Amino acid sequence: MSHHFQTARITISDIGLKKRRGEKIIMLTAYDYPTARALDEAGVDILLVGDSLGMVVGGLESTLPVTMDMMVYHTSMVARGRKKALLVGDMPYMSYHVSRARTLHNASRFIREGGADAIKIEGGRKRIRTIRALLSAEIPVMGHIGLTPQSLNMMGGYRVQGKTSDAAHVLLDDALYIQDAGVFSMVLEGLPAEVAAMITERLDVPTIGIGAGRGCDGQVLVIHDVLGFIDKPSARFVRKYRNFFEDIKESARDFRADVESGSYPSDSECYHMAPGQTPEGKQATNAAGA
Ligand code: KIV
Repeated sequence: MSHHFQTARITISDIGLKKRRGEKIIMLTAYDYPTARALDEAGVDILLVGDSLGMVVGGLESTLPVTMDMMVYHTSMVARGRKKALLVGDMPYMSYHVSRARTLHNASRFIREGGADAIKIEGGRKRIRTIRALLSAEIPVMGHIGLTPQSLNMMGGYRVQGKTSDAAHVLLDDALYIQDAGVFSMVLEGLPAEVAAMITERLDVPTIGIGAGRGCDGQVLVIHDVLGFIDKPSARFVRKYRNFFEDIKESARDFRADVESGSYPSDSECYHMAPGQTPEGKQATNAAGA
C-alpha cells in the first residue's frame, strides 16, 4: 500500500512546535474558496471555518441558529481553496451537546465531507468527555474558552470573562482540564490580557487569542472584520486593515454609472463574429447584395 505524505501541509504538531519555538501562530476565519486561497497564499497557519459565518455571511443575530449543513458546506469550499494551512471546522451549537454518537457523527462530517483536519468546540471542563470521545475517533480538537459565543444566553450577553481573580482561576482550571483531555490548542476569547497571558504561560499547548491581549501564542480575527466587510462598529480588539464594504459600494456605483452612460461595455469588452460573418447570414447578404 502506498501513502501520499503531504509534507507541505501544516499539521497540529507544527502548531505545537510554533509555541515551543516562540513563533506566533496566525489564524483567520475563512468561509469560501477565494478567501481561503488568498489567506493560504499569504501564509496564514490556520484557517478556521467559524460558526461566526452565520453572523458575518448570513446576517444572523447570533451563532446559535447555525446548522451542521451550513458548516460542512462552507468548510468544503475552504478546503478546495487551501493548500498549506491547517483547516479547522467549528462545531455549531447543539452539534456536540446531545450524545457521544451524535457528536462523533457530526465531527466526522467536518472531516469526511468538509475536508477539515480538526474541529473546534467551545467550553471548559464540561467538555472533557467530548474531547476524549473525539480523540478516540482520531479527530484533533481545538478548545475555546472565555467568552464563548454559543453560551450567549448563559453569559447574559457578549461579556469579557475572567475579570476577577476567582473567575481567572476558574478559567485557568478549565484550560488545564481541556489540555489534559487532549486539545492540541485553544482559543482564548474576550479575556483580560493579564489573564490570557497567565493561562498561556501555564499551558504546554498553544493559545490563540481574540480580544485576549498580546500574551497569547497566536492571534485570530474574523476575516470580515479584518477586511472591513461589515458596516457595524467593531469591538475594541478588531484591527481593520481595509474597507471592503465601502470599496464594494463604490465599485457598484461606478458600474452603475458606466452602464447608464453607455461606457460599459466598450468595444474591447464585446465578442465579435468571425471575419466575414454577419448576424443576418447568407440569405440576408444575398438579399441585400442581389
Ligand atoms: O466562530 C468564530 O469565528 C470563532 C473565532 C472568533 C475564534 O470561533
